[in-house]
Amino acid sequence: MRRRARLAVAGLGRIGLLHAGNLLERVPSADLVRVADADPSRAQRAGEALAVPWVTDIDELLADGAIEGVVIATPSGMHAEMIEAAARAGRHVLVEKPLAFDVGSAHRALAAARAASVHLQVGFQRRFDPDWRAARERLGQGAIGAPRLLRIAHRNMAVSPDVALEGLGDILIDVVVHDFDTARWLLGEPEQVIAVASTHAPDENATVTRSETVAVLIRFRAGALAMLDTTRSSGYGYECSGELLGSDGALRIALDHRPLGLEQLAAGEARAALATDHESRHRSAYVAELEHFARVVLGEFEPEASGEDGVAALELVGAARESLERSEPVPVPPAPPATASARRAAS
Ligand SMILES: NC(=O)c1ccc[n+]([C@@H]2O[C@H](COP(=O)([O-])OP(=O)(O)OC[C@H]3O[C@@H](n4cnc5c(N)ncnc54)[C@H](O)[C@@H]3O)[C@@H](O)[C@H]2O)c1
Repeated sequence: MRRRARLAVAGLGRIGLLHAGNLLERVPSADLVRVADADPSRAQRAGEALAVPWVTDIDELLADGAIEGVVIATPSGMHAEMIEAAARAGRHVLVEKPLAFDVGSAHRALAAARAASVHLQVGFQRRFDPDWRAARERLGQGAIGAPRLLRIAHRNMAVSPDVALEGLGDILIDVVVHDFDTARWLLGEPEQVIAVASTHAPDENATVTRSETVAVLIRFRAGALAMLDTTRSSGYGYECSGELLGSDGALRIALDHRPLGLEQLAAGEARAALATDHESRHRSAYVAELEHFARVVLGEFEPEASGEDGVAALELVGAARESLERSEPVPVPPAPPATASARRAAS
């Protein structure tokens, strides 16, 4: 029988539990061997429900020699430090986005992973979404000629009151970071960013609010443009759609995505269900992302979304924040050079 990667999950909140459940039941190349959460009751509940040993201390988890790789799904501000701890323990890492809360700690985490020769993958699950993957493949095959313009609509329905936004950061680092990665993945290296935001918040000084909308324009070094629109509160559902316009045509990506292929027609109207959250919209992508990570751990692949990609997305976050502050276009610093292994994966 083919060997399976022995993986653990650290952080058992919304996304950590989803990953743990997927590892247990839906990822052919992985076994879930242990879970951890700093909250003892959460850790115990999850461990018992998943029937795997649980701990409350991540260092204890990482010291377990049975573990080859760890999925880090703790609040964003803890990611960098936990990557460094995992690297010291010699464990491969799939870290949820963002790679870190700031570029400096992201670089330190990346350096620690490189120094320990462990793989570092970032949780940009859209790279595993069938619609977006197909678009990238068609683009690569020259189906629409040279890319000119990318539009992405990435909209959350609402932020539920139990979500601690402070642990996740502003809309740029928490939400638009996915779009920054997708835009680079499709169009290459960015050159310049312009961002405009509206907070709709009663308190204008709030840095993190439950109701934010942001529009970002990017110009890429190869000449193409991207227009990103993102909101925390669309009111109608969760949308992750786009359009790629090229010199010879266009690709429309999940513009009419439906979780269910059913439409109800009555009295001059048609009704169909919409995805209401990222879990249902990207169900298969989350599983494929974990399967990819398991095969990275088994030595079959290099990470699809690497630590370098994670840093590059954070550079875009930084430039967009600066543009918001200064109300003007801001140049984007170059992405860190890919390691030899990351270059092999990309070719
Ligand atoms: N890729 C995606 O689509 C996606 C979706 C949601 C969340 N995320 C990311 O996942 C991360 C977690 O988000 P969430 O919404 O699940 O948060 P959450 O608050 O629901 O869960 C975080 C969990 O981490 C635990 N924790 C805190 N400190 C810990 C420590 N030192 N050791 C172990 N566990 C600890 C908390 O007790 C909690 O259970 C964030 O970085 C977020 O940006 C990504």
